[in-house]
Amino acid sequence: MSDQSVQLIDGKNDRSTSLPIVTGTLGDPALDIGRLNKETGYFTYDPGFVSTASTRSAITYIDGDKGVLLYRGYPIEQLAKHSNFLETSYLLINGELPSRTEFNQFEHEVTHHTMMHESQKNFLNGFRYDAHPMAMLCASVASLSAFYHDNLDMDDPEQRRLAAIRLIAKVPTIAAAAYRSSVGWPVRYPRNNLEYVTRFLHMMFEVPSEPLELNPTVAKALDLLFILHADHEQNASTSTVRLVGSTGANPYACIAAGIAALWGPAHGGANEAVLSMLTDIGDAKNVASAVAKAKDKDSGFRLMGFGHRVYKNFDPRATIIREMTHKVLADLNIKDPLLDVAMALEEVALKDSYFVERKLYPNVDFYSGIIYKALRIPTEMFTVMFAIARTAGWVAHWLEQQVTPDAKIGRPRQVYTGSVQRDYIEVGKR
Ligand code: CMC
Repeated sequence: MSDQSVQLIDGKNDRSTSLPIVTGTLGDPALDIGRLNKETGYFTYDPGFVSTASTRSAITYIDGDKGVLLYRGYPIEQLAKHSNFLETSYLLINGELPSRTEFNQFEHEVTHHTMMHESQKNFLNGFRYDAHPMAMLCASVASLSAFYHDNLDMDDPEQRRLAAIRLIAKVPTIAAAAYRSSVGWPVRYPRNNLEYVTRFLHMMFEVPSEPLELNPTVAKALDLLFILHADHEQNASTSTVRLVGSTGANPYACIAAGIAALWGPAHGGANEAVLSMLTDIGDAKNVASAVAKAKDKDSGFRLMGFGHRVYKNFDPRATIIREMTHKVLADLNIKDPLLDVAMALEEVALKDSYFVERKLYPNVDFYSGIIYKALRIPTEMFTVMFAIARTAGWVAHWLEQQVTPDAKIGRPRQVYTGSVQRDYIEVGKR
């Protein structure tokens, strides 16, 4: 916190008040408005939190104008090139890259918490055969608090740490089980001799009748996608995790809330929506009319995978995924006409003044669906993939919140626009 302040002049009441400035290590400074209402009688009004910092955080930094994304100070490009998802998870949670021993310990612990309780299978079996896997994941993660209710003393750092490990370890197991129950395959148990992403792919795709032959490109690509999706500071789902966390709710409930928030098409659901949009467009020759429709506000149609609240330049994750998409399709020898549609759409939109003026660039979800499709991940599992990766970020934020000294329950105010006080009217007189 700096000792600088900003003077706020209230012309209406001819008075002024001084607001302290809060600065971080990077990024724009913020006005501390915590005492504003008490001192002036005003609230601030900021729908969508466009100009509001809800917390201090040392986990992830984004410079949306320059297209910069740092996890604990490390550029996403370097992590994508040199790290792996589990190491990145360790970094997000603990703040530093692990030594070899620390990584081995972390991996060992995660690996040995991947099993889900046998009776959780009954829970999954209770869903209708056509249940969306996001619904199953959300409910099953919430149900973990019932399975581990004896380890929910969140004042105990060891119990907090254990909850974090369990979440990172079990979410892929539950996700794969949700998929398998939707296709009528028996649940595949996690194998300890495999590493995190490969283990997940085995749980997803191995059938009892034959071993799974896994192309290393598939595991590598998924690991990269997981790194890119692992955290993104105070996005809607992470803010949801923190809001629920601020009430003292248990971590499984908090992460389940994050999964629910992620599901929306404006957030993590966009990757699924991108694929159906590209399928609907169908051919590069229809791109111009799709772009025209997206510009027409009355159509209610937006180009999915375009635009971002924070990035007003290229989303650095999209740049990495774009390159990866071409490599994956080439390595797996897949010709996907949807990629041609995607490239034509990107080209037209990037030249169109509507998108240029509003700084609408492809975001992380624009290409990820095409890679997932190439990896044979079913469309309804796309957002689940995002949730597996983002669990690392959610858990890191939840842990950080638990040790924040000035943490308060999240409780926004409102500008009331309803009826003024009036008297009850009996039904016959209405
Ligand atoms: N297609 C067409 N117009 C758009 C789009 C789009 N994808 N995105 C924004 N606009 C327009 C919008 O209509 C508005 O125009 P005007 O100024 O004339 O009213 C302007 O651009 C600003 O949009 P906004 O809705 O005020 O921006 P926002 O910061 O509230 O929304 C967003 C950000 C990501 C929700 C939005 O860009 C969007 O709906 N994109 C499509 C969905 C998507 O791809 N979501 C994934 C986001 S990245 C991954 C994640 O967060 O999970």
